[in-house]
Amino acid sequence: MTSTNSTVAVVGCGYLGAVLSAVLAEQGNQVIGLDVDQAKVSQLNSGIAPFFEPEFQDVLQGALASGKLNFTVDPKEVSAAQIIFICVGTPQQAGNSAADLSQIWSAVDAIAPHLAESAIVVGRSTVPVGTAAKIEQRINQKTGRNYQVAWNPEFLREGLAISDTRCPDRIVIGTTSAEVERELRKLYQPQLDKQIPILIMDVPTAELVKVSANAFLATKISFINAVSEIAELAGADIVALAEAIGLDPRIGNKFLAAGVGFGGGCLPKDIRAFISSGEELGAAESVKFLTEVDQINTRQRTRVVTLAKKLLTDLSGKKVVVLGAAFKPNSDDVRDSPALDVAHSLHLLGAQVFVHDPKAIESARARFPELSYQSDLAAIFQDCDLVLHLTEWSIYRELDPVAIGSIVRNPVLIDGRNVLDFGKWRAAGWQVSGLGKKA
Ligand code: UDX
Repeated sequence: MTSTNSTVAVVGCGYLGAVLSAVLAEQGNQVIGLDVDQAKVSQLNSGIAPFFEPEFQDVLQGALASGKLNFTVDPKEVSAAQIIFICVGTPQQAGNSAADLSQIWSAVDAIAPHLAESAIVVGRSTVPVGTAAKIEQRINQKTGRNYQVAWNPEFLREGLAISDTRCPDRIVIGTTSAEVERELRKLYQPQLDKQIPILIMDVPTAELVKVSANAFLATKISFINAVSEIAELAGADIVALAEAIGLDPRIGNKFLAAGVGFGGGCLPKDIRAFISSGEELGAAESVKFLTEVDQINTRQRTRVVTLAKKLLTDLSGKKVVVLGAAFKPNSDDVRDSPALDVAHSLHLLGAQVFVHDPKAIESARARFPELSYQSDLAAIFQDCDLVLHLTEWSIYRELDPVAIGSIVRNPVLIDGRNVLDFGKWRAAGWQVSGLGKKA
């Protein structure tokens, strides 16, 4: 692998920052990761991943062993860095749809006094357009210097974060400075060697690329979910329909999986922040459709709960098994998880809800302690009245409907992701329903 040998600081060591730090160190750069959370920093320094992400722990340990990577809580350590990436979280504000930028401002205030005169500050968090200019102004006010803040949005998917960072679809850089462009091209030389496209543009465009990409993905999912409701009412099949429209290369077959909808730490809050930012800029009408995208998504969760009520008539005291707690497979992230949201609604309706997940039970329990959790997949189905498959971990596709059918009280299944083999489950005596599927 090409050694680029830049000295890099990564501010904020969550999913994005921790993965970026490890991959940049793996590529030969000297990297310091800065975070305010001492426990997380100690864990990372001892080679333990604070979250489940395939491959991450191995890459982390390799980078630590090479001496190229270190984590710290001391902002003074950014003084050695040529390139400083801002990777802190930008969650949704409480009681408001806008992004909460408080972590950005405290990170900027912490690092500003320690920046080297020639340092290049690069934002990577997902932010409303115009944030880079505000960061630049704040840093320049505090330092009396003239930094030009660049933007380099990330597009990594949880569960694929390492491969998406090593080998992204594209690299987007917002800067008008030739020097910043040169340094970032040097940093990303291993990616450029793999012919990954690099797009240089102005800063506001780079900021908008990220939110637009996520808004488009969310719209695509809500589109197919809206059609799934029509399909269900008309006796059509949404899976066959999605395959047929997806073969048109103008549409494409990705992100057309109808089901319980999107969740996680990005798509839901990013579309809400985009609505808020569009309104602030005076383009409320243009972002109004995203409110509908959000509502269609929430309605999918309600549709599953309504279907459960219809299938069992009365949920009170019934044993319900929910397969999956994470917002998507190969992750232990339960932020805005559709599966947990549905599980919680069924609990409020009086059902005894037992949740299984291969990786996310602990994070789910911390969020919803009132639900019951069971890590033994063989035992969970005993005497159950309804099974809901809500996060499509591959192990659920291997379940044996005959064996499970022999221990449940009631062989009724809702596949909220439309990926199980309906024919196989029905042949084993199960009543199977999906969103947008024929009853
Ligand atoms: C997303 C973007 O894909 C990524 O580029 C960005 O950087 C961060 O946000 P992520 O949140 O990891 O990444 O998840 P993603 O794989 O995009 O899935 C988001 C949600 O949509 C999941 O809950 C998933 O289950 C759901 N989804 C996805 C569907 O319901 N249907 C689909 O067809 C695809």
